[in-house]
Amino acid sequence: MLGSLPPAIQPTAAVIFGATGDLTHRKIVPAFYHLQKNGKLPEGFVIVGFARRPQSDDGFRQDLKKALDEFSHTQPVDNAVWDQLAPHIYYHRGDLSDPVSYKGLADRLRALPENKAFQDNHLFYLATAPNYFGIIAENLAKADLGPRRNSSAVRRLIVEKPFGVDLASAQNLNQTLNQFFPEKTIFRIDHYLGKETVQNLLYFRFANSIYEPLWNRRYVDHVQITVAEKVGVEARGGYYDGAGAARDMLQNHLFQLLTLTALEPPASLEAEAIRDEKVKVLRSIPTPTQETLAQRVVRAQYAAGSVNGRAIAAYRNEERVAPNSLTETYVALRLEIDNWRWAGVPFYLRTGKALNKQFTEIDIVFNRPPSVLFAAASKGKMRRNCLQIRIQPNEGIHLNFNAKVPGQPMVQLVDMNFHYREDFSQSHYLPEAYERLLVDAFVGESTLFTRRDEVEEAWRLVDSVRNMWATQKVAELPLYPAGSMGPVESDQMLERDGHYWILPSE
Ligand code: BG6
Repeated sequence: MLGSLPPAIQPTAAVIFGATGDLTHRKIVPAFYHLQKNGKLPEGFVIVGFARRPQSDDGFRQDLKKALDEFSHTQPVDNAVWDQLAPHIYYHRGDLSDPVSYKGLADRLRALPENKAFQDNHLFYLATAPNYFGIIAENLAKADLGPRRNSSAVRRLIVEKPFGVDLASAQNLNQTLNQFFPEKTIFRIDHYLGKETVQNLLYFRFANSIYEPLWNRRYVDHVQITVAEKVGVEARGGYYDGAGAARDMLQNHLFQLLTLTALEPPASLEAEAIRDEKVKVLRSIPTPTQETLAQRVVRAQYAAGSVNGRAIAAYRNEERVAPNSLTETYVALRLEIDNWRWAGVPFYLRTGKALNKQFTEIDIVFNRPPSVLFAAASKGKMRRNCLQIRIQPNEGIHLNFNAKVPGQPMVQLVDMNFHYREDFSQSHYLPEAYERLLVDAFVGESTLFTRRDEVEEAWRLVDSVRNMWATQKVAELPLYPAGSMGPVESDQMLERDGHYWILPSE
């Protein structure tokens, strides 16, 4: 449960499917290393990598160590800690679609020296291409590695994103997974939920008394949610060209930020109470009509340019991207949440790659103060108060308010701020998202994972956008130079409402 310390992790065999992939090297194993470093992994805990290519246990360990040295967020890597973990990492060669490989896996797990400790507790991490998720679940169940009735053994699945490519495929995948693993044993990852600053949204809203009374349509003019990235697609063209910004970022990370910003106070901090409120937010967004959407969605693609002096090729010239690709690398949209709290308040969401700034921020923009008293002092237009919640980097919270300019009768917007690194980082270790999520999955705490109905509601909305695009049959997308802040069409969408994209806090 959020708000209380998780119980200790039990001895478990964590099996990673897709063990030779990027995610395992960059995120999952570094997260295990940090859990080991912080004393969170018990004796008798093992990691088993499952993949097709031939590899020895030792070769696998060496590969992972190399990646750890490169990707660990704390440096240098503590070799003594790695030496404690490495002997409990194994490699199992197998074919994802072949049931025999899973029988082999089951035998291998039984034969491991740590088996006496972890016994039947298995957590399976699906870090493969999504088209394998269903078959892995089925094969696990056939090899008697799935959940068992009347047994206290832990049998859980962690499922990476993307979870489906649209509503229909997500529903199918949910159905298939649920045939073999009940919903409470499935942990769908959205790593944004593992970020401390994202969890802090609930604390900020409900552990304080001064914001909540203002958190509604009477006081809030509009809300902006931005996930801006400087990186282009780099080596991920093969995946990204079939996905695009709407599926890659909007369906998951941006909607997570939206639901946590907009939800009603949950009845408790129990997982289902919070997840119920998140789903209610999405359900309160009616599927927009195509005519409405055409005015409220902007998509674009990056053209050649440079970010921080580094040249970036046009998206279409990136590796494994179709030369005539119409995949969006930028998407912005305006949504409305039709409930009592938010009716009529625009929520603007945007995300893009190859932009000139890297930041994730939620801006709550309050109503403009009447200028009756300070019309002259503010040159006729008082600035709006804005609460800037910076998710990353420079994690923190800024409140902009109007103040008197010393020595002059004028009004100027000033900034009051809190930075995590100043207030907490000396005394507190800031874990990476995957560390938190792994712990929660091991102890069966599902608050920070996406529930079946939530993932489907998010797809409903993304499908409506993509269906509208499908009917547009455009020959070209708007382009923005790499190193800019996106297409002018996005600025114009806000200008039509009398708004502009807020500059990020510093
Ligand atoms: C991933 C997307 O889920 O999130 C990537 O697939 C994106 O395209 C990444 O770059 C962003 O995550 P973070 O934690 O760096 O903001």
